Amino acid sequence: MSILVTGGAGYIGSHTVVELLAAGYDVIIVDDFSNSSPEVLKRLATITGKEIPFYQGSILDKTFLDKVFKENKIEAVIHFAAFKAVGESVEKPLVYYHNNITGTITLLEVMTGNDVKNIVFSSSATVYGMTNVSPLTEDLPTSATNPYGYTKVMMEQILNDVAHANPDWSVTNLRYFNPIGAHESGMIGEAPNGIPNNLMPYITQVAVGKLKELNVFGDDYDTHDGTGVRDYIHVVDLAKGHVKAVKNNLANKGARVYNLGTGHGYSVLDLVKAFEKANGVTIPYVIKPRRAGDIATCYADPSKAKRELGWEAQKTLTDMVRDSWKWQSQNPNGYQL
Ligand code: UFG
Repeated sequence: MSILVTGGAGYIGSHTVVELLAAGYDVIIVDDFSNSSPEVLKRLATITGKEIPFYQGSILDKTFLDKVFKENKIEAVIHFAAFKAVGESVEKPLVYYHNNITGTITLLEVMTGNDVKNIVFSSSATVYGMTNVSPLTEDLPTSATNPYGYTKVMMEQILNDVAHANPDWSVTNLRYFNPIGAHESGMIGEAPNGIPNNLMPYITQVAVGKLKELNVFGDDYDTHDGTGVRDYIHVVDLAKGHVKAVKNNLANKGARVYNLGTGHGYSVLDLVKAFEKANGVTIPYVIKPRRAGDIATCYADPSKAKRELGWEAQKTLTDMVRDSWKWQSQNPNGYQL
């Protein structure tokens, strides 16, 4: 019996594949390489010492997906495959709604047709919308400020409704805070297309000389130094959270939701300083106006995941900035060799 990982060649997906294999699960990857590279699969084979069964294709392609289920004994799915760039989602809402929502519905239909009723979903703290009351708990209302965020809100809703309609389903929605860092080998990591939207890859690309300076979006927030505060979590801790979630999902029916964060907030400048100190690299930066849609502070109350899954983030901010830099410095062009 295997775990199917959609988007398994992506940033969080690839790290989760490593941890699933380490925990003794068999894994099958589906990915269309829309935001990843075949090189990831080679690296995964080197890290894990295993050739991982792989199918290239889109979750929008029902015939393709059905073949994957027919050819394998799949007991659960971890569903990462989705578009994730906030700004792009504002420009291309239909592309985002179609890919993320129709893709998820197609996956759920194929799962139903093949009697697989167990799914762990890649949600996001973005579903807390503009709620600025950290630490954020799972029972807060959900909302969104952009099409990407709405797709996450809707996909959680769809999964909850499916579990509600049929008590045989096991559904876990995992709300990630801000994943950074990379596998300790430096062989896999975050490789965004084009100029990064997110803070950590922007910092590492400044450090490696691909970008001139960091733009700090706002220094007049109500935070300890005026810059935005977020809950940065090491991607390997996040990946281990998925292993715990899948184990729990296999043992319990019904729907549940967990925050995966550390519970600690760090500002933009905290992250810059930690990066400079750990890595001995200077990050030039300029203060810019606030970015639309950003809130001052966003960090998790991760106690539910600790209580119910026995999961807790282990790695420090120093681990995160060191591993981000190891990945970027060893791979200045990401997976483009
Ligand atoms: N920031 C900068 N300069 C940059 C990029 C970001 O100052 O070049 C700041 C932002 O203003 C914010 C912080 O760094 O204060 C973090 O920004 P990110 O873009 O890295 O992350 P966000 O918290 O905005 O968003 C991330 C993911 C979303 C997810 C959300 C959940 O990108 O997909 O976390 O809270 F939905």
